[in-house]
Amino acid sequence: MKIHVLGSAAGGGFPQWNCNCPMCKGSRDGSVRAKARTQSSIAVSNDGVSWALFNASPDILTQIKAWPAIQPGRSIRDTGIAAVVLMDSQIDHTTGLFMLREGTKALRIYCTDMVREDLTTGNPIFNILDHYCKVDWQRIDLRAGAFTIPGIEALRFTPVPISSKAPPYSPHRHDPHEGDNIGLVVEDGKGKKLFYSPGLGKIEPHVKTLMASADCLLVDGTTWTDEEMMTLGIAPKTALSMGHLPQSGPGGMMEALKPLSKPRKILIHINNTNPILNEDGPERAQLTAAGIEVSYDGMEIEF
Ligand code: MLT
Ligand code: MN
Ligand code: ZN
Repeated sequence: MKIHVLGSAAGGGFPQWNCNCPMCKGSRDGSVRAKARTQSSIAVSNDGVSWALFNASPDILTQIKAWPAIQPGRSIRDTGIAAVVLMDSQIDHTTGLFMLREGTKALRIYCTDMVREDLTTGNPIFNILDHYCKVDWQRIDLRAGAFTIPGIEALRFTPVPISSKAPPYSPHRHDPHEGDNIGLVVEDGKGKKLFYSPGLGKIEPHVKTLMASADCLLVDGTTWTDEEMMTLGIAPKTALSMGHLPQSGPGGMMEALKPLSKPRKILIHINNTNPILNEDGPERAQLTAAGIEVSYDGMEIEF
C-alpha cells in the first residue's frame, strides 16, 4: 500500500494567514524551525497510478502541483484520482471539491448520508458541482462493511463510526448522528492495514481494538493541549468541544498510543497553534521519544 500525504495541517493551514501565535509568527520570521503545511488530505493507492483521495482540501490545486505522480497523462484530460472519500463535511476537507469541477466524468465521491446531507443543504457543494462535472455519489453505509473502489480493486475500505463533531454550519452541529464523522481502515491483499482518522474526539473501545491491529495509524494531531486556543487568546473553544482529542495529558492521544506495539504511529491534521510543529521543541521531543511521528506535506508511506 502506498500513501501520499497531500496536506498535514488542520483548518487554516500553517502558518495561518491571520495568525500570530508563537508557531505561526515563529515560522514566518524564521525563529521556529517548522515546515509550512497545507490542509489535511491523503491519497492511497495499491499500484501508484490510481489513487483514492481522502478529503479534498481547499489547498488541493497546490497539493496536486507539488505531486507530479498524480498526473499520469494518459489522455488530453486525465487524473490519477479515481475517487474522493470524505471523512466528514468540514470546510477544510470538502471545499477542494470545487477545484475538481473541470473533470471530464462525474466526480465519484464516497460519503455517508449525513455528510451528503450537509453537502446538499448547509454547504451545497454537490448541488453546485451538478452544474459542472456532476457528482457520482456513492453511499458509505456504516452497517455494510467494506467497499471497493473501481480502479483500486486491490484495496478494501472499511468505514468506522467515530465520535467527533459535524461542522459549525451543519444543521445538526449540536445533534450528533452516526456518520457525521468516520475513520477508515484500508486493507491490501496481504492483510496490511492503515487506519486514517484526522478528526477523532474520543477513542471508543471499537476504535481502540482496530488501532491495535493496524500496521499504520494516521490520526488526529490537532492540538497539544485541550485549552491551547483559549490560552493563546484565539478562540473560546477547547479541542474536545471541536471533536479533537489533544495529544498531551491524561486521556490524551499519547496515552492512547502508548500501549500499541504493532502500528507505525503518525499524527496528521496539525493545528497551527500546536507546539509539535516546532521541530526543535520539547513537545516534539516527547513525541519522538514515544515513537510518534508528525506527518508533513509530501510525506510518502509504503508498507
Ligand atoms: C476542524 O477540524 O475542527 C477544522 O479544522 C475546523 C475548520 O476547518 O475550520
Ligand atoms: Mn479540520
Ligand atoms: Zn497560529
